Amino acid sequence: MRRMGFLMRSRRTGAGMAAILVVTMAWAQVPMTAQDFHVPGTQVGDMPLSALRPASECKTCHGDFDPANEPYATWAGSLMALGGHDPLFFAQMTTANQDVANVGSFCLRCHVPAAVVTGHVANPSGSSLDARDREGVTCHFCHSMVDPQYQPG
Ligand code: HEC
Ligand code: HEC
Ligand code: HEC
Repeated sequence: MRRMGFLMRSRRTGAGMAAILVVTMAWAQVPMTAQDFHVPGTQVGDMPLSALRPASECKTCHGDFDPANEPYATWAGSLMALGGHDPLFFAQMTTANQDVANVGSFCLRCHVPAAVVTGHVANPSGSSLDARDREGVTCHFCHSMVDPQYQPG
């Protein structure tokens, strides 16, 4: 009973704090542009979508033989495979967008990298993402990465 009373009190305080936070954020959004978040490497339009292979293709040979150790099953249950579905990520990205305009495109570049290839990264809210984007950090994304500022040696 004592513990319940404590929980109810802190919940009331929490609601009050949330209301104050929403008001503060609405007034204090940092006005950044998409250009402010430019990073090197692949840009929208650099690469056709057909060049990025879906994980289901890799599964043909790298899956369905040893779920505890094979590349496919160990990837499929990871946060990388779930990057395009992770509710905690999308909740925090929404908050980040309220704090800093356009920052969502920066988050999506790592968390949902196919969006740079499809071009859906241009919408920082994430509401343009499709099923292909939501495959997350895929096999082929990692296994086709190169250093964008490569120096021989
Ligand atoms: C037709 C079957 C097949 C498909 C489909 C396939 N692979 Fe492979 N992959 C292989 C085989 C066989 C090897 C081992 C080759 C060897 O060691 O000579 C291999 C090796 C690899 C290696 C290890 C290379 C190394 O140096 O150890 C990686 C990484 C890899 N594949 C990634 C992928 C990815 C990513 C995809 C999906 C885009 C994929 N593969 C699709 C058959 C396949
Ligand atoms: C440079 C790449 C990169 C960028 C940019 C990035 N993240 Fe992440 N994020 C990661 C990685 C990698 C992890 C996993 C860290 C770990 O496992 O320790 C992660 C983890 C997270 C998690 C935890 C997910 C979970 O379910 O545990 C959240 C939430 C998150 N990021 C939100 C954001 C937000 C919001 C932005 C933009 C403001 C952002 N990230 C930008 C790479 C990035
Ligand atoms: C986050 C990046 C990342 C993702 C996603 C990823 N890999 Fe890898 N993979 C690596 C790295 C790094 C290595 C180790 C390379 C080395 O040690 O030379 C590796 C090793 C491998 C190997 C070498 C053999 C082995 O088992 O060690 C194969 C095959 C492979 N990955 C296939 C896949 C497949 C198939 C998927 C998707 C189901 C996948 N990878 C997803 C980064 C990734």
